[in-house]
Amino acid sequence: METIKIGLMGLGTVGSGVIEGLKKNQKEISERSGIEFDVSKVMVKDKQKKRMVEIDEKKLVTEPEEIINDPDINLVVELIGGCDLAKDSVLKALDSGKDVVTANKDLIATHGKEIFEKAKENKRNIYFEGSVAGGIPLIKPLQESLAADKIEKVIGILNGTTNYILTKMSDVGYSFDRALEEAQTYGFCEADPTNDISGLDAAYKLAILSYLGFETLPDMKEVYCSGIENVSQRDIQYAKKLGMEIKLLAVGEKEGDGIFLAVVPCMISKEHPIASVKGENNALFVKGNLVDEVMFYGPGAGSLPTGSAVLSDIIKAGKEMFKEPVKELSAGSENNKYKIAPREEFEASFYLRLVVKDKPGVFSEIAGVFGSYGVSLESIIQEKKEDEYAEIVLLTHKTKIKNLDDAIADLEKRENVYELSNVIQVEKS
Ligand SMILES: NC(=O)c1ccc[n+]([C@@H]2O[C@H](COP(=O)([O-])OP(=O)(O)OC[C@H]3O[C@@H](n4cnc5c(N)ncnc54)[C@H](OP(=O)(O)O)[C@@H]3O)[C@@H](O)[C@H]2O)c1
Repeated sequence: METIKIGLMGLGTVGSGVIEGLKKNQKEISERSGIEFDVSKVMVKDKQKKRMVEIDEKKLVTEPEEIINDPDINLVVELIGGCDLAKDSVLKALDSGKDVVTANKDLIATHGKEIFEKAKENKRNIYFEGSVAGGIPLIKPLQESLAADKIEKVIGILNGTTNYILTKMSDVGYSFDRALEEAQTYGFCEADPTNDISGLDAAYKLAILSYLGFETLPDMKEVYCSGIENVSQRDIQYAKKLGMEIKLLAVGEKEGDGIFLAVVPCMISKEHPIASVKGENNALFVKGNLVDEVMFYGPGAGSLPTGSAVLSDIIKAGKEMFKEPVKELSAGSENNKYKIAPREEFEASFYLRLVVKDKPGVFSEIAGVFGSYGVSLESIIQEKKEDEYAEIVLLTHKTKIKNLDDAIADLEKRENVYELSNVIQVEKS
């Protein structure tokens, strides 16, 4: 039986899951692959730290070079996180002729092009199944199972923290702050949840999905990103009245020669399968021109679920290592197939919540403003708020965002409009 020697960089949450998964299923893994996997070195920052898994102390190293320059190691598994040391280590590992497995979304989304080029230059492979939605198999299904399809649209719930918060706000009536506090207490969120709440974490993952589904790896500046910090209990209650849920959705959509990429809080019908994804779970809904609609669902993070994804890459890398001739890059093309279309050109329906003066003629004034920018209204709900003010909720038909923005700018100047409380996209696929 062939043996692959692995240099594991990082023994935190995911690294420990890899060691534990390998130990639990060692027999099945070697029988199915015909390969023995031997983790011969493990890089950590602090050798004295108490570990979640049993590890031979002699295997612990603290410098990447101890793995990169080891000629016996043929596969590097990068589970450090971040972009500095991880990027440097991955590039050096490829240069030294080793294949690489990583679960690092920031790294692939931000430096993917450079890394794929380096892999190609060295005729090596890079695998990243764990980088999007942890334990849910997404990368290989997009690369292999849906290889014959033209992907038209992807809609993802790709961040467990924000989905947990929105679920608690909707199901238990928590405020945003209370739901966030609970997510922190139960460990569904990083010590610093900024990247989760702002949508950036999901945007990294959407960038990777765009690469696989649309053969286009965007610059991160091109992925429109808006977080959930402004979603209030009032919006959640209106969504319910309208038969919808609010979810932080990562949406990629092909339109002519361009693709739209955005991470935004969206209202979506309760009937849509993705609306029923609760708590810290993740999901990806994919529309292809042959398969029609499919959805992947499961744990978007965690030690063993992500360890399972990383181990599937380790097995794939092992099998491909002994294939001759070796090299077709596991990732797609390094040249972008589509342009990223500007957000203002995107067409969608919207929910708007406004506080206006409660007096005759205000309704028609507001409808008139929207009409003058070509934004047609689907429905209006009015609720009395305080003596001289009324809260109104409007749903628009599909409209270009540029037109909506112009209408909003005009509305905000009107005396009869006291406050524009929120604007939320309505996903209607
Ligand atoms: N956590 C998840 O559920 C999850 C899910 C999907 C993807 N990912 C991705 O997987 C990767 C790893 O995440 P994680 O949650 O496992 O991270 P983690 O728990 O913070 O573990 C990071 C590991 O890297 C080591 N390390 C960090 N800096 C180092 C340095 N300068 N030199 C040597 N070793 C260093 C740490 O060593 P010490 O242990 O000694 O501190 C630790 O073992 C990230 O890219 C993350 O985005 C994570």
